[in-house]
Amino acid sequence: MRKVDKSIEDLPGVGKAMAEKLRDSGFRTVESLAVATVGELCEAAEIGESTAKKVIASARQLADIGDFVTGDKVMEQRTKVGIITTGSEKLDSLLGGGIETQSVTETFGEFGTGKTQLAHQLCVNVQLPPERKGLNGKAVYIDSEGTFRPERIKDMAVAVGLDPFKALQNIYWVRAFNTDQQILITEKAEQMCEKGENIKLIVVDSLTAHFRSEFPGREKLVNRQQKLNQHLMTLHRLAFIHDLAVYFTNQVQAVPDVYFGEPMKPVGGHVLAHSATTRIYLRKAVKATRRIARVYDSPSLPENEEMFSITPEGIRDPV
Ligand code: GTP
Ligand code: MG
Repeated sequence: MRKVDKSIEDLPGVGKAMAEKLRDSGFRTVESLAVATVGELCEAAEIGESTAKKVIASARQLADIGDFVTGDKVMEQRTKVGIITTGSEKLDSLLGGGIETQSVTETFGEFGTGKTQLAHQLCVNVQLPPERKGLNGKAVYIDSEGTFRPERIKDMAVAVGLDPFKALQNIYWVRAFNTDQQILITEKAEQMCEKGENIKLIVVDSLTAHFRSEFPGREKLVNRQQKLNQHLMTLHRLAFIHDLAVYFTNQVQAVPDVYFGEPMKPVGGHVLAHSATTRIYLRKAVKATRRIARVYDSPSLPENEEMFSITPEGIRDPV
């Protein structure tokens, strides 16, 4: 089922130098070229019109556009969806049971709202057996902020009765220092899945930090969105093809012109808005240990809220 990705060097007439030029101007995949217009490509990559036409034509032939499948096959794949508990029954019920496989879940919110804590908790809970709402699986933790804490995993593992040492052995951690690394690491995780590692959860904490710092300002927005889009496509593909859950965290930025409703919105703009399957907005409650989670913009879940707590044992129902 998995398609072999083609790189833009595979296009007839595109040599190494040309490929470099195209990448530098933001066209990193065959698909991005297939949907480009001649004018766009000429301007961005500074190439002639006839070359641009040729490149686009061959990209369209080579592009990976996926296959149609019949509805019953989609249904069959959906019946395999697995669930990982968050550790809080209330939060689980808000999410329709927990964090799902074949799906991408995002949390966004201010600092200290529990995004990273939930990431740790899911890495532990994915290892639980299905009767305890786990998947007997392993986790990959892509850490772009350097906030993974094995000690915290130990505490959480002990609290659910897992051997803390084994729990740590079931988590593959890697630090990503920039967006290119982050993208490559995700592709490496895909290779691990293909080799048969029983990975049931991929965490990216945070997804957007490097994208934000490497592409500041409006003029870099297009490049940023293209690259972010490519990254998200890989994550979605991984989730679906390997029947695993993707959980990523996101920062928020203040929206100065919003006077009613939430004055915060997630970073990433339209690309993220159409990409995460479930988005959860986290904010602090009055009581210090409590947090409020709200489903944001979901196609299948109502926009409800629930409270949960960050306890010494991990994520739990509000205390
Ligand atoms: P940023 O990454 O800064 O945007 O924040 P975040 O949303 O990832 O916050 P994080 O998940 O790191 O939550 C931090 C909060 O979790 C702290 O303010 C503490 O309240 C709580 N917390 C973190 N570690 C522990 C711990 O070991 N024990 C307990 N009881 N609470 C903890
Ligand atoms: Mg964090």
